[in-house]
Amino acid sequence: MEFLWDDCIYITYKTNEPKPARRGSHSMSISYSDRFREKDAVEFYDSNEYGSGSYSTAIWQLQRPVLEQILKDFRRERTEPIRLLDFACGTGRVLASLEPLLDSAEGIDISENMVAVARTKCVKARLLVGDILASPELLQKKYDIISCFRFLLNVEPEMRSRVLRRLREVLRTPDGRLLVNVHGNSRSLRHPAIVWRRQREREEKSGEMLNEMSPAGTKKLLRETGFEVVRQFGFGILPPTLYRTPLRKAALVVDWSLAGDHWWNDCSIDMLFVCRPC
Ligand SMILES: C[S@@+](CC[C@H](N)C(=O)[O-])C[C@H]1O[C@@H](n2cnc3c(N)ncnc32)[C@H](O)[C@@H]1O
Repeated sequence: MEFLWDDCIYITYKTNEPKPARRGSHSMSISYSDRFREKDAVEFYDSNEYGSGSYSTAIWQLQRPVLEQILKDFRRERTEPIRLLDFACGTGRVLASLEPLLDSAEGIDISENMVAVARTKCVKARLLVGDILASPELLQKKYDIISCFRFLLNVEPEMRSRVLRRLREVLRTPDGRLLVNVHGNSRSLRHPAIVWRRQREREEKSGEMLNEMSPAGTKKLLRETGFEVVRQFGFGILPPTLYRTPLRKAALVVDWSLAGDHWWNDCSIDMLFVCRPC
């Protein structure tokens, strides 16, 4: 089943993230909110998706120092305490890296099992389990920074707007910042491989998810939900396939030298947007 949403193709049964324990009809109907509830999906995310040597880990190594620098710059410009919310914090990958740089940090996720792992990684962040749409009272404070990683791309399209609007309500105006990424750019060099894999998936129905969003489509979504992009960073220009060949080290060097805030960001596989409320 496919939806065409702006210039993003959303396929309900394909993921480049943990596959559900059972495939087939189960994988075709599972919602994104349920995808990470089972322990084996959590285990897959931490050990495989972010296992040592994975492509996602390589991209995170490029992204992490940039994120930390954004927070340090933000801190330099302010004297008041800084409060961060990491929405869909998962196993705490982003939160554990950022919490030392902040006065207070909170993480929220719908999956108890993901948060259980986050609790083992985060030292000072307050961690909550819940659905911010069904229980809006879960977020009552205003946050100076809200991070949202690896959520937008694969969540159902109508959920993207609803979640972003709720996050907008709790982001401090006018100085707050939303840091949001999209880890599958339809304008990147990976796109042809994704098209081919979608084709193959139509027959195999293996339960993979191969969604993509374009830079323009993402910015439009952000604008419509109350955000203006003030900076854009990009990570990963080369096709990830290269990372599974003897050229891996060379690919890492090239992607490292091309990562950051450049005019070719619209071609990066992983896009990071720094947004202010508008
Ligand atoms: C791919 S993981 C990303 C985790 C983390 N942000 C990271 O980048 O490593 C997506 C996360 O979104 C969470 N999620 C899915 N739907 C959600 C919802 N409606 N509210 C909160 N979290 C949700 C999942 O439980 C999962 O932990």
